[in-house]
Amino acid sequence: MRLSVIGTGYLGATHAAAMAELGHDVVGIDVDETKVARLAAGEVPFYEPGLPELLGKHVTSGRLTFGTSIAAAADAELHFVCVGTPQKPGEFAADLQYVDAAFAALADIAAPGTVAVGKSTVPVGTASRVAALLRARGVELVWNPEFLREGFAVEDTLRPDRIVIGADAEEPRRVLERCYEPIVAAGTPVVHTDFPTAELVKVAANSFLATKISFINAMAEICEVVGADVVKLAEAIGHDERIGHKFLRAGLGFGGGCLPKDIRAFMARAGELGVDQAVAFLKNVDDINLRRRARMVDLARETLDGSLAGRRAGILGAAFKPDSDDIRDSPALDVAYAIQRAGAAVWVYDPEAMGNAKETHPTLAYAPTALEACRDADIVLHLTEWPEFRVLHPDDLAAVVRSKNIIDGRNVLDPEQWRAAGWHFRALGRP
Ligand code: UDX
Repeated sequence: MRLSVIGTGYLGATHAAAMAELGHDVVGIDVDETKVARLAAGEVPFYEPGLPELLGKHVTSGRLTFGTSIAAAADAELHFVCVGTPQKPGEFAADLQYVDAAFAALADIAAPGTVAVGKSTVPVGTASRVAALLRARGVELVWNPEFLREGFAVEDTLRPDRIVIGADAEEPRRVLERCYEPIVAAGTPVVHTDFPTAELVKVAANSFLATKISFINAMAEICEVVGADVVKLAEAIGHDERIGHKFLRAGLGFGGGCLPKDIRAFMARAGELGVDQAVAFLKNVDDINLRRRARMVDLARETLDGSLAGRRAGILGAAFKPDSDDIRDSPALDVAYAIQRAGAAVWVYDPEAMGNAKETHPTLAYAPTALEACRDADIVLHLTEWPEFRVLHPDDLAAVVRSKNIIDGRNVLDPEQWRAAGWHFRALGRP
């Protein structure tokens, strides 16, 4: 099939390459000229394992092209809209300006009888509104939320655990299923819904995941008061299959471009709909999450006898999670910044996210390696659980720091190993 993908960020670039891999001819369109130039040269402008290979393969084969003009999408039979819906400045609600602009542009150029597919995460009610706009031009709409995780974007697109298709007519639904035929044939469950259900599936899933993380982090708060160990607690309750071990890792909490803004946008939309009480608990979920960051700073201060002023901190991690260079709402950078505001000199190292971090947090100092970030440090804070930090040897780090203080914000380091090497070791939610 001939496809267009409008918006080539994490979602769109991955989707475009994955659709080419399925055998389609794909044109990716974005307003950002620099981004388009890099993608067209086969270069991925962000860190996503496996994507450079897939993109390069299909740019070379000629099945995947990129452009800045929406006119290049005119001969596609299926158009995917993958633009961002960031949080509005100063509000919880999602900013729909990019979604509205993309569908308006599409309505101008899409041929009657073609199908538009909404993949962006939007407030419930958006799809019906967009469908009316498109239908006036003879274009049908389906809503097909994505569930990809950064770091696993290619895998999650080519081998998703489910496909959700929201539609109000049979024919456009069939066109999308034809596009996904190899994925459907592999046995992937397909859930057919109406528009509002499809929109809600995405925010409900992310709300559930955020709630699960904040639940275990709330338990961590209690563990800290009574001297219990949240890691053991999570291990024990996770053995109950109804609870499960996944998304039950206590620590610095969630960040990134999805979970935080999606639960906030959901609260805002529920308020508009007069059902804010139904998701009032998400405010607690958000608050618990943000309290973990504050607790991390307090723990660092406590460790250094009540003051961070004039001290030096080595920060391991800037990305919101490992295997990503994304620093949007990153707990690690938030903590680093707060520690600096408390008067400490802060040195940060991250394997992939330093370029992005330098742009948004230019006042922090950046070191080329983990050991350099920790040189002469009075305290080391482990804030993003990259594999290379897990295998750091306590003796190697001891050789460069001023004082052997470490706080594990991600609960993946072995307390016994560090204590045995003479470190003062603290962690969130652990004795
Ligand atoms: C998430 C959803 O998983 C995905 O389905 C959706 O499409 C987009 O949002 P992503 O933002 O890539 O994906 O990150 P994810 O791997 O879900 O992690 C989110 C955050 O939660 C990270 O900051 C991570 O460190 C944190 N987390 C995750 C925990 O603190 N504890 C856990 O147990 C799991």
